[in-house]
Amino acid sequence: MMTEARAFAPGKLILTGEHAVVYGHRAVALAVNLGTTVSLQKRLGPSGIDSSDIQDARLWPALSTILPEEGIGVHITSTLPIGCGMGSSAALAVATVRAYARLKGEEADFNRCYTEAFKVERVFHGNPSGLDHSVSALGGVLVYRRSPTGPHISPLAPVALHLVVVDTGPPAQSTAEMVENVRIQGNHKVLSAIGKLSEEIIKGLNSPERLGPLLNQNHRLLCELGVSTPTLNKAVSTLRRAGALGAKLAGAGGGGVAIGLVRPGSRVAERMQAEGWKAMDIEVYKEYYDG
Ligand code: PMV
Repeated sequence: MMTEARAFAPGKLILTGEHAVVYGHRAVALAVNLGTTVSLQKRLGPSGIDSSDIQDARLWPALSTILPEEGIGVHITSTLPIGCGMGSSAALAVATVRAYARLKGEEADFNRCYTEAFKVERVFHGNPSGLDHSVSALGGVLVYRRSPTGPHISPLAPVALHLVVVDTGPPAQSTAEMVENVRIQGNHKVLSAIGKLSEEIIKGLNSPERLGPLLNQNHRLLCELGVSTPTLNKAVSTLRRAGALGAKLAGAGGGGVAIGLVRPGSRVAERMQAEGWKAMDIEVYKEYYDG
């Protein structure tokens, strides 16, 4: 009988399609080489969080949707910026599903990760599209489309994407609030334009020269949607000036991260840091997890 189990799940970045994915358009996301590790220990008494790198009042309400009320202590460590559009809650959710399955002597396949992690994600994000925890559970790069009959998920062949992430700090509003703002505004013209652009981006994934300008266009549309901020716009323009082929905000917006597409071995992250930005090179987390 196992008394302890541990699992890792990666965070993510959205290359294209944030917000539009909520309305049935396709989005592309990639798992990143940063993530969250969850260790579960059997113990006497009520279950709860024993230690955590993630400080959030919703932590136990979220995890208690998939863990028993009694007998488990949870330890959480994370290398992700928290709540900044890099899928920290999705990575937490998927790692917890996997660790709990292991504690029971099982392995969670994709379907189990998807269904169980969704319960956790709903506590954090209300009515999320499911994109974040899908890419966390699968790894690699994928195309995601929400539909009334369930998600359409197409893992893509390995793509060499070199990105620099700039963390502008936690957004003032939550993902759920940003999604609600977009819903109230109802700017379906822009949402459709983002959907169309995502189709171009999917075709241009292997060509950085083609992809860069498309990411710039994507950022302009996200600005029109009203989800960017002056700091994100500054991060995006500085990324371009520092040598990125294209740049955009990534995630729900209102703060959080911006990404720049760079050439391998570029010094864009260094240049951003020299200007006082929190920047780092990011690699795709390639492990394809199919249970
Ligand atoms: O959690 P974030 O900040 O990466 O945003 C998720 C992307 C949205 O499209 C805005 C919401 C969703 O549920 O897909």
